[in-house]
Amino acid sequence: MVKSLQDTTTLHNGVKMPWLGLGVFKVKDGKEASESVKAAIKNGYKSIDTAAIYENEEGVGQGIKESGVSREELFITSKVWNSDQGYESTLAAFETSLNKLGLDYLDLYLIHWPTPAQGKFKDTWKALEKLYKDGKVRAIGVSNFKEHHLEELIKDAEIKPMVNQVEFHPNFAQKELRTYCKEQGIQVEAWSPLKQGELLDDSTLIKIGEKYGKSPAQVIIRWDLQSGVITIPKSTKEHRIIDNADVFDFELTQEDMEEIDKLDTGKRAFADPDEMNKY
Ligand SMILES: NC(=O)c1ccc[n+]([C@@H]2O[C@H](COP(=O)([O-])OP(=O)(O)OC[C@H]3O[C@@H](n4cnc5c(N)ncnc54)[C@H](OP(=O)(O)O)[C@@H]3O)[C@@H](O)[C@H]2O)c1
Repeated sequence: MVKSLQDTTTLHNGVKMPWLGLGVFKVKDGKEASESVKAAIKNGYKSIDTAAIYENEEGVGQGIKESGVSREELFITSKVWNSDQGYESTLAAFETSLNKLGLDYLDLYLIHWPTPAQGKFKDTWKALEKLYKDGKVRAIGVSNFKEHHLEELIKDAEIKPMVNQVEFHPNFAQKELRTYCKEQGIQVEAWSPLKQGELLDDSTLIKIGEKYGKSPAQVIIRWDLQSGVITIPKSTKEHRIIDNADVFDFELTQEDMEEIDKLDTGKRAFADPDEMNKY
């Protein structure tokens, strides 16, 4: 059982990654990003998830610097955007992200979307393997990869992805993909765990939360962790950043877990990776 905000899972290369982190999608660059990151780190978070396309890496970097916590204690993720896919362009995009963040290495670098229509994710992966072998990133992975994208990638890969970050929340629980990733030793990480706030008035989650004095957001985050999925809820508000991490003093029962599992509709709320062709 995950017992604290500092608890980690061990990726297949031995690197330890926190189970719970802060997401910063749609967080404005500058003060909003730096203040959110600082609030999270002040309250014990170690892991921050950004991406080049969020256009807030400078603010995130500022927050990291001003947090006063040493770099080695933190776990920083960024992602290569679709228009930068390809070998050389990914290497260049990585350097740009690193410079904006003001860091000299990343803990995790992900291919943001497979964008199969571009046909570049294998070349992009080769660039990630180089960055990994050069010691510029401690772990590499993918995001939004379905099983067939992973199979294609793994066929020619020297290094298997360590993480697959995907849409995952009670309405879209990705059971088959999770089973496949487990077989492959790939850790699944949830994006939009709260379905961007849409699930917070769900009556099942409210009812389960009432038993423990917990909010629907806290119930979802606990369900993520008990499902073996890393989670990165986003908030710019310190009280919610604190609340979202106040999930270590209760445990959902098997019946609670099964009841939440039943909320799965099998339908995505956001883009389908096979159709996501925004560059
Ligand atoms: N790889 C990808 O393609 C991808 C796609 C989407 C997201 N992500 C990553 O996943 C992270 C999380 O996903 P997300 O940002 O899309 O959505 P989310 O974490 O599911 O939900 C965030 C929304 O919920 C609100 N919220 C957070 N905690 C709350 C609480 N305790 N009570 C009430 N409302 C609360 C936030 O508002 P306030 O900020 O106002 O509190 C925000 O509107 C992102 O930030 C990003 O790092 C990755």
